[in-house]
Amino acid sequence: MILVTGGTGLVGSHLLYHLLQEENSIKAIHQKTSDLNAVKNIFAYYTSDFDTVFNKVIWVLADLNNIPALEHAFKNVKRVYHCAAFVSFDPAYYKKMRKVNIEGTTNIVNLCISNKVDKLCYVSSIATIEKNIKNQAIDESENWNSAVQKSGYAITKYGGEMEVWRASQEGIPVVIVNPGVILGSGFWHKGSSNLFTKINKGFNFYTEGVTGFVGVKDVVQVMVILMHSNIKNERFILISENLSFKEIFNKIADALHKKRPKIKVSKFLTGLIWRLDWIISKVFRKSPLLTKNSANASQAKNYYTSKKLNSAIHYKFEKIETVILEIGRNFNQTKGGL
Ligand SMILES: NC(=O)c1ccc[n+]([C@@H]2O[C@H](COP(=O)([O-])OP(=O)(O)OC[C@H]3O[C@@H](n4cnc5c(N)ncnc54)[C@H](OP(=O)(O)O)[C@@H]3O)[C@@H](O)[C@H]2O)c1
Repeated sequence: MILVTGGTGLVGSHLLYHLLQEENSIKAIHQKTSDLNAVKNIFAYYTSDFDTVFNKVIWVLADLNNIPALEHAFKNVKRVYHCAAFVSFDPAYYKKMRKVNIEGTTNIVNLCISNKVDKLCYVSSIATIEKNIKNQAIDESENWNSAVQKSGYAITKYGGEMEVWRASQEGIPVVIVNPGVILGSGFWHKGSSNLFTKINKGFNFYTEGVTGFVGVKDVVQVMVILMHSNIKNERFILISENLSFKEIFNKIADALHKKRPKIKVSKFLTGLIWRLDWIISKVFRKSPLLTKNSANASQAKNYYTSKKLNSAIHYKFEKIETVILEIGRNFNQTKGGL
């Protein structure tokens, strides 16, 4: 029996569909507030028979912080894909992120140990990989430097990784994947998919920051390959290409047959905007639209490499242009979920 956490999110739902092609015994946890129809919508990108596929999943109500519910979910489980996390760059959610991303992972790890599961796969992020100053592509060998300022998200995902390494110390074989920005169909109003919604509506700004991007189908395929392999106690950066936000926005605009964003937002202007937005958010008690961390991320130029994965499993990632063209087609066919 396989257990998937975060099955109602972007990665977890695509993973569920992928796993269901070969496996029959799959449990997925969800929260009271989770939108299970969103999972059906994801399956509908793959098959018209999405209801049948959806009904194959054993859904268990369990919050990552509810230990009795998790204990119930772990019955007969042998392999665990831990995708659930609270993702935010808003410092106001730091405590919540610690609770879900670190404490929640502690609970998953403890249950993996007490149930002696065969293997655990944890979805981390490139946010936990230290940037280097050597002007070389960033790889898994970079050590975490706590003296360098990090986002709450990075700190809590790193804390989650520490818990997963503890599982490995306790004899549970683990693999950690560190994807870049994940692009995939569905969930059009949150995360990276929101870029399609915004650009479709005529978003006209870009920055020249650079980061690593990867398609969600590649992420879930690699997770499954790693779980079936003898590889254990390793982490792998998952990146198809390093591209600037300008390049990504242009590709999305082209895929949607919309105008490419024209106005370049400089580092100086981004700095000004997040500060103004911060003041406005305090005055009106609203979440800021742009935080210091997201502003910095939009301007930083970080180049990552997946060399380690390629030498371990010889995996060929789909080109980002191909990934975006497919997502664009799905966006247009479903009118962006409207
Ligand atoms: N998307 C990216 O670009 C990206 C890049 C690198 C790494 N990652 C990592 O990939 C993983 C999946 O990300 P995603 O994009 O799929 O995120 P997502 O769409 O926001 O999904 C998050 C999932 O976690 C679940 N969750 C949150 N809090 C929970 C709790 N307390 N108990 C149980 N479940 C909880 C959510 O359930 P609800 O549906 O109920 O909210 C949802 O299923 C995360 O670990 C993230 O850090 C994502």
